[in-house]
Amino acid sequence: MRTLVVQGGRPLRGELHIHGAKNSILPILSACILSSERNVITRCPKLSDVTAAMEILDAIGCRGERLGEAVVVDASSASRWSIPHHLMGKMRASVTFLGALLGRFGHGEMTYPGGCTLGKRPIDYHIAALKTLGVTLEEEGENLKFAWHHRRGGEVFLPFPSVGATENVLMAAVTANDETVIRNAAREPEVADLCKFLCAMGAEISGIGTNTLYIRGGKTLHGTTYCVIPDRMETATYLAMTAACGGRIRLRDTDPNLLRPVLDTLRGAGCQITLGEKEITLTQSGRLSAPRCIITAAYPGFPTDAQAPMVAALLRAQGECTVEETVFSQRFDHVTQLRKFGGNIRLEKNSATILGVEKLSPAHVRATDLRGGAGVLIAALQAMGESRVDCSELLARGYADLLGQLRRLGVEAYETLTQE
Ligand code: UD1
Repeated sequence: MRTLVVQGGRPLRGELHIHGAKNSILPILSACILSSERNVITRCPKLSDVTAAMEILDAIGCRGERLGEAVVVDASSASRWSIPHHLMGKMRASVTFLGALLGRFGHGEMTYPGGCTLGKRPIDYHIAALKTLGVTLEEEGENLKFAWHHRRGGEVFLPFPSVGATENVLMAAVTANDETVIRNAAREPEVADLCKFLCAMGAEISGIGTNTLYIRGGKTLHGTTYCVIPDRMETATYLAMTAACGGRIRLRDTDPNLLRPVLDTLRGAGCQITLGEKEITLTQSGRLSAPRCIITAAYPGFPTDAQAPMVAALLRAQGECTVEETVFSQRFDHVTQLRKFGGNIRLEKNSATILGVEKLSPAHVRATDLRGGAGVLIAALQAMGESRVDCSELLARGYADLLGQLRRLGVEAYETLTQE
């Protein structure tokens, strides 16, 4: 286990480069299997989830290597369509290999995916949607064996605009013999990024960025070079952190258009924000003013992944704010940890009401999941003195060079390793 030790209570000042989006690179790495040529993905963040995706590619028989900020994936020798259980367990995004395996081989074998515990995370929408395309499923104990013999397209309707289910259907559908329509598709920028990558490989997809995607199958996909979009969750996290601690942050190589609801919320809470084409500068002094309520929703709503960082940022805000979580059924595990700093949070079903307190005290806490861990860190940075965050390896799943980024903001921070 890793423990992150930080000295909190000081304003943050500095300039950060934003890395490529975790939620783009993971499905894009899966999609590399769809071509037997070499793909080069630039701006690939150094994250443990990326390492886990590379291990899956290796298990399938692909050759992958990192060259600085880029990864090169050569899927010409891909020969296996079964993902070992221990690799499926490492992250939720491993499930997006399913659509890609079906697209390449017409077969895919796996167990249920792991990842952060955010309440119910079933894959029934993925399975129902793929069945609409003629995919069959045999369950043998924990093993799920999928087969797609006729490569039929079809009309898929998703009961909820699930990011993962949209991505899985897309990756299979680009190799179908005819057309597929996905209705109520996820509109997240990372889904659009996957579509653009598939098009760069030779696929034909229209309606990109909308909730209806049209895919004309039957194209032979080739290799390409592609640069993923900036990580809007990394951006949102450092903005929330600076809003909470006060100071001034300039984020470079990001895209302000991808996180309007977060920027609006922070402005409403009193932060000064200026935008450039690819940069955001936030300045804040004194306590934030609590917005009345925040409701998470599918894109373009307030992102569920920014919920925990925002709850933490509001712990010392003036006033009361209710944050309603509508995307995941159980995404408030961080609240128990936030209370250890003296945070006043009332939990009721799927909402948390934060009554701002004047100051927080340092604490020894634990990261509960990736974004919950970011929330806990934001609380620690507001408390004057030394705080310790156990299980900080969870943060390495989604925040590239976290220690470096914190130090660039003037934070005294280090990590220790404990044998479990
Ligand atoms: C992706 C993101 C994650 C983000 C989430 C919502 C990646 C790697 N992860 O996760 O960071 O928090 O989108 O923006 O891109 N659902 C079902 N059945 C299904 C699929 C989903 O009931 O088969 C439910 C889930 O339980 C959840 C909701 O739908 O309540 C949204 O899930 P989904 O959009 O699929 O999230 P992920 O793709 O897992």
